[in-house]
Amino acid sequence: MRGVLLALEGVDRCGKTTQAARLAETLRQRGHTVETWRFPDRTTATGKLLDAYLSRAAEMDGRVAHLLFSANRWEKADQLLRTLQRGVHVLLDRYAYSGVAFSAAVNQLDIDWCRATERGLPAPDRVFYLDVSPAAAAARGGYGGERYESVPLQEQVRRVFLEHLYDAGRWHVVPADGSVEQVHQQLLPLVLECVEAAEHHNTPVGTLW
Ligand code: TMP
Repeated sequence: MRGVLLALEGVDRCGKTTQAARLAETLRQRGHTVETWRFPDRTTATGKLLDAYLSRAAEMDGRVAHLLFSANRWEKADQLLRTLQRGVHVLLDRYAYSGVAFSAAVNQLDIDWCRATERGLPAPDRVFYLDVSPAAAAARGGYGGERYESVPLQEQVRRVFLEHLYDAGRWHVVPADGSVEQVHQQLLPLVLECVEAAEHHNTPVGTLW
C-alpha cells in the first residue's frame, strides 16, 4: 500500500509548518508512518541559491528564481515517489502551488508559463489551503524580512491561489484564523479520511496538472 501525498498551502505565516508538525505527531500516535517535507528545501544546491535570493543576499531575475524553485522540487521527485511506495505518508509544507502563486503574483509572470515547469511532478492526493487574511498572518509574530513578506504582495498571492489554482476535486480550503488546536481539529478528520481511504484503494500517484 502506498503512502498518501498531502500538501499544505497558504500565504506566509498561515500556520502550515505548525499544522504539518501537529498532524505528523497525531498520525504517528495512531500508528501511521509519516514524513514532513518542506519546499523550498534550502539544504540542496538550488536551495542554497534560493535561500540567498529570499534573504535578499542575492538578486536574480524572477524567471530564474521560478525555475530554481521548480528544480528544487524536481530534484526530490524520485525520492518522493520512492518514499510513497514504501508506504510512508508525506505531508508537504508548500509545493508546486506556491511555486505558481508566488511567481505569478509577485514577479507578474504568465501563469501558464509558471504552471508548465511543474507539469509531471507527483500530484498531491489532497491539498489543504490554510486560509488566513494576509493582514492577520502578518500580525502573528510579524514577518522576518524575507523577500515576499509584505501584506500587499501576500494579498496578490492569495488571489492567485484561490482564483487560479483552486481545484474543487482536490482542494479543501480550511479557515485558519483560529488557534493552533482549532485549526488542527478541522484538519485532522479531513486528513484521516484521506489516509484511511488510501488503505482501501491503492491508486497510483497522479501527476500535475
Ligand atoms: P517558507 O517561508 O515556507 O520557507 O517559504 C519561503 C518563501 O518562498 C515564501 O515566501 C514562499 C516562497 N516560495 C516561492 O516563491 N516559490 C516556491 O516554489 C516555494 C515553495 C516557495
